[in-house]
Amino acid sequence: MCILVSFSDVATVYQRLGINQHSAGVQLVNFYRWKGTESVIDLGCGNGQLTALISEKTAEKVTGIDRSTKMVKVASSNYPHIHFSCADLEQLHPDAFNKYDVAFMNSVMHWFQKPQETLKKIKYLLNPNGHLLVQTPLKSWCPQLETIIQQVFNCKEFIPFAEAYNNPWFHLTSDQAYQHFFQKFGFNVTKSQVVTTTTHVSGNEQIWDAFMSGPAQAFFAQNNYSCQLPKDYEHHFKKQFSRITEQNQIDQLNYNRLMMSLFL
Ligand SMILES: C[S@@+](CC[C@H](N)C(=O)[O-])C[C@H]1O[C@@H](n2cnc3c(N)ncnc32)[C@H](O)[C@@H]1O
Repeated sequence: MCILVSFSDVATVYQRLGINQHSAGVQLVNFYRWKGTESVIDLGCGNGQLTALISEKTAEKVTGIDRSTKMVKVASSNYPHIHFSCADLEQLHPDAFNKYDVAFMNSVMHWFQKPQETLKKIKYLLNPNGHLLVQTPLKSWCPQLETIIQQVFNCKEFIPFAEAYNNPWFHLTSDQAYQHFFQKFGFNVTKSQVVTTTTHVSGNEQIWDAFMSGPAQAFFAQNNYSCQLPKDYEHHFKKQFSRITEQNQIDQLNYNRLMMSLFL
């Protein structure tokens, strides 16, 4: 598998790049009424910033897992009092982990290649009556970034790559569609809400950083293209991306996200 950019590549700078995911994660932490006695697993914990925030909400054990070894390394070094381990949620063996009262999953689910199977595995991690907290971008996740990417793909030199690109994301269109998806697996919905947030940006680099914090992992992964990507693909992509952001004078990014609190 050839990935030009992976979450491991951005692990050490994720705190700066992932500010939008982080602020959504803070909202998700506050979306749940903590009793202070819950054991928690943070699924796809990244650099562990949110895991650390969760650990302030409960006296019980909090664990973070992520498939990126570098993310886990950064998390373990920043928060040595919390246990982090490296695991792919899509490959989880049901008995490999303890059971938890709460599973927390911020900006992770859209990366699942087999969301149905993976959700079944996640269910095994929960105690009876366990809670699942999910924040995930909707299909229309950020109109401004979506437009820029589309315009890059419309450039003559990118048309063959646009045609060869297979969208890897698991996205549904609405709150109702997600509710239905989780209910099929036996989850009950406590609370579910679409939240649109606005981030003000000044200059190309901030918009590029927002792209690099997550979406780039899809657009720069060789696996998502049916043609070979050249070595300088990212460089050319960035050139067009910057030209388009300059022309369009974008000063804000709106993110459409779904916050859900579910229980078994
Ligand atoms: C956008 S980051 C979010 C990190 C963190 N949850 C946050 O909100 O700050 C997505 C994270 O999910 C992890 N991830 C994606 N798919 C995963 C999987 N199948 N198993 C474990 N981790 C996964 C990535 O490695 C990455 O660290």
